[in-house]
Formats: sequence, structure tokens, C-alpha cells
Amino acid sequence: MKVEKVEVFGKFVNIHSYGGDIFYIHGSGGSGSVWKNQLRKLGGYAIDLPGHGDSEDAEINGVDDYADFVVTTMENLGGRFFVVGHSLGGAIAQKVYLKKPDIVKGLILVSTGARLRVLPEILEGLQKDFEKTVRFIVEKLFSPSFEDDEIKKDVFEEILRCGSKITYRDFKACNDFDLLEDYRSGRVRVGRALCIVGADDVMTPVKYSEFFVKMINAEISVIDGAGHMVMLEKPEEVNEAIKRFCGL
Ligand code: COA
Repeated sequence: MKVEKVEVFGKFVNIHSYGGDIFYIHGSGGSGSVWKNQLRKLGGYAIDLPGHGDSEDAEINGVDDYADFVVTTMENLGGRFFVVGHSLGGAIAQKVYLKKPDIVKGLILVSTGARLRVLPEILEGLQKDFEKTVRFIVEKLFSPSFEDDEIKKDVFEEILRCGSKITYRDFKACNDFDLLEDYRSGRVRVGRALCIVGADDVMTPVKYSEFFVKMINAEISVIDGAGHMVMLEKPEEVNEAIKRFCGL
């Protein structure tokens, strides 16, 4: 794997670089390595958002600030990309499109929504009892039928590495994100979009993706036997959906 460091707004941003025209954005408390199954098979670039993975932290106050980093990172790489975003990353992807539609070939919205309210016990718990709350979150991230404890452990440890300050900042950013009315009123128009969602996702249920189908005519791929971490739970099915959409 090639790793690149790009300087954005005076901060070093780490990118898992495999070449091509797909750009991946991870979710709360994660890092670009969550896309390892997609990068190896489909190529692309996966960012470690500021303060995650091997990227330097920056002053971030919500989804818009993350989106500014992503836009500038994409511009540094050059060209146009299919932008794939998971959960918080999907919120960031929507904002990237709204800020710079001409650098986006298509949006792939994985386990996400136009609004991402977070359970109050998660927001509170991340500040009060971080490790216990991360355990509670990780239990909700996977389908009951998913039994690979190694993968669950990796996700748990990645969030712990990210730490309580940044993980709370991420979930707070999700909780504050809300484009429901913008889509409903037609103020937000998006070109080509694909939603990928696990049928058993309890964090961002299938109806959040169906909203995009109704509002912006998005394509949808509902993946059986998967929860919120669909790209880790069912990598082949996710890769097929991305390949079809991107014409690979
Ligand atoms: N797309 C379409 N509709 C949405 C939506 C989205 N992204 N987000 C909310 N809505 C709808 C809901 O379906 C609901 O409609 P209904 O009244 O017809 O059922 C309405 O908007 C209000 O829902 P919500 O904003 O979620 O508020 P709430 O007070 O009902 O519930 C939570 C708050 C936190 C309990 C709930 O959002 C939840 O369970 N979230 C998932 C758990 C979580 O923490 N996820 C983390 C995401 S990163």
C-alpha cells in the first residue's frame, strides 16, 4: 500500500493511495483503513480525516469543516472522483458535493442519511465513560448474523485509538447535521447517487437511504445480513455495487 501525506490548511493529511478515481471517507472514530477491502480490489484514495489514523488534528467544528478538508485534499490529488462516504463520511460527502459539484463524478452514500441524530446516551456516554460507551456502540454496528470477532475487535480498538475527544466531536457533528428540509424543498439537487445500506443497520436504518431514493432518485443496494459496517461485513457485495455504479 502506498501512503501519501498531503498538506491541507497547514496540516498533514494521510491518504491510503491506490490510484484511480474513487475517493473514500470513513465514519466517526474510524480511519481510511476501514476501506481496505475496497482499496485492494477497486483502487482509489481513502483519507484519514483530521485527528484520525495518521493525520494531524485540526480545528474542526462540524461536518462543514471536515468537508473543507476533503475538498482541498481532492483538489490536491487532482481530477474528478466518485466520492464514497460512510455514516459521518456520507454526511461529509454530501457537503463536498454541495461545495464543489464539479469534482464529483457521483456520490456513493454508504450507511448514512440526510440527517443523523445520535442517541443521547451515546453523546453523553462518550464524555463520561468512553470505553463502556464504545463497547455499547460497537455492539450496534454489526448485524446479529455477523460473527467475526477479530473484525469487531479491530473496530473497537480503532475507536479507542481515536480517543474520546475526537470520537465525541464526530458524533456531535453527526447529531448537528441535517439536510432533510433542504432535500424536501428541492433546494438540494444531487446528480448521480447510489445508496448502499445493510438490511440490519440500526444506526442508520434503510429508511434513511430510501429517503434519497425518493428525493434525488438515488439508486439503492440493500445488502442482506449486514449492519452499519456493511463494507467490512459484506465486502464483495459492496464492491460489486460500487463497480456497477462506477462502470468499472
Ligand atoms: N432520513 C429520512 N428520515 C429521517 C432521517 C433521515 N436521515 N432522520 C430522521 N428521519 C425521520 C425519522 O424517520 C422520523 O420520522 P417519523 O416520525 O415518521 O418516524 C423523524 O425524522 C424524526 O426522527 P429523528 O430525527 O431521528 O428524531 P427522534 O427524536 O425520533 O429520534 C434518535 C432520535 C437518536 C433516537 C434516533 O435518531 C435514532 O435511533 N438514531 C439511530 C441511533 C444512532 O445514534 N445513530 C448514530 C448515527 S451516526
